[in-house]
Amino acid sequence: MIQFTEEQLAVRDAARDFAQSQLLPGVIERDRDMIYPTEQVKQLGELGFLGMMVSEEYGGGGMDSISYVIAMEELSKIDNSCSVIVSVNNSLVCWGLETFGNKEQKDKYLPKIATGETIGAFCLSEPEAGSDATSQRTTAIDKGDHYILNGTKNWITNGSSSKIHLVIAQTDKDKGHRGINAFIVEAGWDGVSIGAKEDKLGIRASDTHTIVYNDVVVPKENRIGDDGFGFKFAMKVLSGGRIGIAAQALGIAAGAYELSVKYAHEREAFGKPIIKHQAISFKLADMATDIDAARLLVHQAAWLKDNGKDYDMAACQAKLFASSAAMKHTVEAVQVHGGYGFVKEYHVERLMRDAKITQIYEGTSEIQKLVIARSVMKGQLYSHS
Ligand code: CAA
Repeated sequence: MIQFTEEQLAVRDAARDFAQSQLLPGVIERDRDMIYPTEQVKQLGELGFLGMMVSEEYGGGGMDSISYVIAMEELSKIDNSCSVIVSVNNSLVCWGLETFGNKEQKDKYLPKIATGETIGAFCLSEPEAGSDATSQRTTAIDKGDHYILNGTKNWITNGSSSKIHLVIAQTDKDKGHRGINAFIVEAGWDGVSIGAKEDKLGIRASDTHTIVYNDVVVPKENRIGDDGFGFKFAMKVLSGGRIGIAAQALGIAAGAYELSVKYAHEREAFGKPIIKHQAISFKLADMATDIDAARLLVHQAAWLKDNGKDYDMAACQAKLFASSAAMKHTVEAVQVHGGYGFVKEYHVERLMRDAKITQIYEGTSEIQKLVIARSVMKGQLYSHS
């Protein structure tokens, strides 16, 4: 797991170069003014970062999850509005469609999303169903050869840029989670409307929107899997998604750490570089240790997934630990930078704001603990056992 292949190292270098040359310029302004990174997303598609794990027959890169988390870490050191777009498209939409869609669905939709011709959105959260994902209020009523979809989805990443939505909806309230289905819905269909862009604390350039479905006609062939599979579909997709978000959190922590080390060498106080003051060097030591530990957890989860093993617990552990490290150490990075850390030019305040969402989306930290605790109660002592 620690010895990377030539291909994985090439992915790391390509993602690092792209982040430095194409994401860093303008990242402060895009964040400040909530400007969607249209050109950068187009380039990410051309370079293959939007469908990394999709098989080549569907236009993807045919890569493993380790390559994906390596790329996510590098992109997230610089621009998390872009890396969340990459994460949702790869983990939730592409992986969900390729793994659980039928051949017709994959032929029709997957190449477009994997190449970045359009990007996808995963529509689960609702005004009153965030952590409690079974409480879906969006309904899809079976009308024979089609469903009629009605409801409101909240905080949808890629909300306005996506042309293809994976929508989770309730089809039979009496059946609980077995009465939930997942559908492929085209944004251009009658009855789909996109609300205003959310004004967020972090990842401000990504397009997060409310989406309203009003009497949308969804052909039956656009249901994913057998009737009643939607909740399990969402859970399986989110489990893989958590590895991507854990890698994002890892990248945020690592980005803040690398900036802090550089600054601590350059900045002098009391007659020497501040890195020579133990108050600073101990902070850097804690950062280095937690980041290495987070990376091992993220790579372990990706390795388990690539090798066909159960990774639910590992994904939650990676996300729980990496997001906590990101939050803690971005705050410390601002502290290391002193007054400079509090202004936008030095980047660490943005990483600190971006860190918070990694403790919330794709399951809050409390949900990660719930899933881990359930595994332990069922007898799974460790994530790899
Ligand atoms: N894989 C397969 N099946 C699973 C599963 C998994 N990972 N997790 C649960 N299931 C199955 C269970 O086995 C059970 O099936 P059976 O009854 O047949 O055994 C069924 O699903 C119901 O499971 P639970 O009883 O565990 O369900 P629950 O209501 O207690 O909820 C939960 C479980 C873990 C709390 C879940 O609701 C959850 O993960 N909530 C968080 C939702 C979330 O992450 N939202 C994020 C929104 S998307 C987003 O953020 C994207 C973005 O924009 C970046």
